Amino acid sequence: MSEIESVLHEDRRFPPPAEFQRQARLSSPAEYEALYRESIDDPEAFWGRVARELPWMKPFERVLDWSNKPFARWFTGGKLNASAVCLDQHLAGARADARAIVWEGEPGDVRTLTYRELHAEVCRFANVLKSRGVQKGDRVAIYMPMIPELAMAVLACARIGAAHSVVFGGFSAQALRDRIEDGGCSAVITADGGWRRGSVLALKPEVDTAVDGIPSVHTVLVVRRTENEVAWTPGRDVWYHELAPKVSADCPPEPMEAEDLLFLLYTSGSTGKPKGIVHTTGGYLVGTYLTTRYVFDLRDDDVYWCTADVGWITGHSYIVYGPLANGATVVMYEGAPTTPHPGRFWELCAKHGVTVFYTAPTAIRTFMRLGEEHPAKHDLSKLRLLGTVGEAINPEAWMWYHRVIGAERCPIVDTWWQTETGAIMLTPLPGVTATKPGSATRPFFGVDAAILDERGNELPANQGGLMCIRKPWPSMLRGIWGDDKRFVDTYWSTVPGVYFAGDGARRDEDGYFWIMGRVDDVINVSGHRLSTMEVESALVSHPKVCEAAVVARPDDLTGQAIAAFVTVGGGVAIDDALRSELGEHVATEIGKLARPKEIRFTDALPKTRSGKIMRRLLRDIAAGVETVGDTSTIEDYSVLAKLRGDEA
Ligand code: WT7
Repeated sequence: MSEIESVLHEDRRFPPPAEFQRQARLSSPAEYEALYRESIDDPEAFWGRVARELPWMKPFERVLDWSNKPFARWFTGGKLNASAVCLDQHLAGARADARAIVWEGEPGDVRTLTYRELHAEVCRFANVLKSRGVQKGDRVAIYMPMIPELAMAVLACARIGAAHSVVFGGFSAQALRDRIEDGGCSAVITADGGWRRGSVLALKPEVDTAVDGIPSVHTVLVVRRTENEVAWTPGRDVWYHELAPKVSADCPPEPMEAEDLLFLLYTSGSTGKPKGIVHTTGGYLVGTYLTTRYVFDLRDDDVYWCTADVGWITGHSYIVYGPLANGATVVMYEGAPTTPHPGRFWELCAKHGVTVFYTAPTAIRTFMRLGEEHPAKHDLSKLRLLGTVGEAINPEAWMWYHRVIGAERCPIVDTWWQTETGAIMLTPLPGVTATKPGSATRPFFGVDAAILDERGNELPANQGGLMCIRKPWPSMLRGIWGDDKRFVDTYWSTVPGVYFAGDGARRDEDGYFWIMGRVDDVINVSGHRLSTMEVESALVSHPKVCEAAVVARPDDLTGQAIAAFVTVGGGVAIDDALRSELGEHVATEIGKLARPKEIRFTDALPKTRSGKIMRRLLRDIAAGVETVGDTSTIEDYSVLAKLRGDEA
């Protein structure tokens, strides 16, 4: 039962704007085709050549060893250091005094670090870690606000060969504790707090609870940011600003094997225990380096801003490693998108001259709801390229982004990938690919993407099925920390021997991919398997609707029925007339079959901190049962309470 019916039709096409194309790194479809073909037919030649663009301390002997499937080994025999790739290589030339990080705090304080300065800070940070006994091979948990020290901490770990395990600063003490224990971390790097929505979000109390009684943790290194009072455990807790002046700013990078662990990053599985996704050094850097270069088309004068938190893979790959490996100028922002005013993001774009902007569909829908007047107040004329990631973008949001933020001048790269893939997998190349709103378009170099059924057969055009990758790629996960069996079962067994990480998708007649959401979320109405994403997209295309989430609810007649949770714009009257209007709208947009059986209006949808709708919770609410699963990653518990109250 891997097949999914597609009911969404989208015919708009946007070729790369001529002005963009003229200066793009890649602008010829023929050149792109030739490179793509080579990357699939002769991946070792392709990736070997790309990898040699990075500064290796010892050249690799072999590009790929795929003999122990599904445990890939890339660039074996080679040695390199991720922090040297991101920093030291730029010190020889003109990039040394170019800005690496332009950071702004939520209160408006600004810090700028050139590559030379960032290098010195990272070396110092690395020596502080060493002075506390952190060693090559250790794991270090990082639980921090979005301040420059977060990037420094990550790179400092890499510099001394300790793996980092960044835990998003919004997670609870319990979530942090689980991850510290699972990773066997020896130290935790944190801060007194960070600024979020106008107040201090304290972090140290969470760390104190999390590490209490965990014997492996000998050090809690605390960066001072907000100067709030913090409790102190002498011997274990140390201030960064007290140790930093005592160590040298010289710290040679540790030569690491290409397959040495670079980091763990936990992703919550659908069932219980989070998975520590394993990424290693060489392949991850090659993948993030190349995708950043071609997808964001970065050049020396670009000012690039990815709005994700470094606590997610997006921040690892496209704030830290990929852009810095390319010598880019990266904007980093501490606070909330709408603090202190709804136009904050656009103010930052104008102030720092952002040229390339990468954000999530959930943020774009929030901005749509807030209104066009906010971006209109700021000069966005420097923007030349826009990107999205995290979930499928509904065509209405895509069009808004294109028109209001991009002034119909900027290509949009809708990038599909996962914590597990390490780097972007499906994406337009902005100087080459004609985009279609809602499609992540085509595979990146070296990505052998296909829509398969469980037997591994490729499905015909426009037939929804399993979104799979058939060949290994350099930045792929190498496993789940401490659980090889779960790695094989989770990713390589649905279609035996092929990578499948849970998404449904279809490929259209032009070879473009359309992600249809998680296959676990597919709704089966009278034997028709429908994608949540398509029904949601139809709902959101109604002018009164801001956001929508649809889930399956048990139904005596049809097996499952569609329950929709909808948020509407301010001033819209919520009544049965609106219910039938929306039902009718879905029926005419995509067909009667997809008309929700039930529509509930709500102020907000339950989401994770990274903006993903928690459909599992909504399913329980729609079915009228108590939620039993893990809710520790929900952003705002009051949303859940309200939804339940609505139920009573
Ligand atoms: C899941 C991965 C990749 C970094 C952020 C999320 C969904 C991601 C897209 C997109 C449709 C997307 C998928 C994927 N997703 N990008 N452009 N179009 N869906 O990382 O938390 O590992 O989540 O996010 O469902 O499997 P993640």
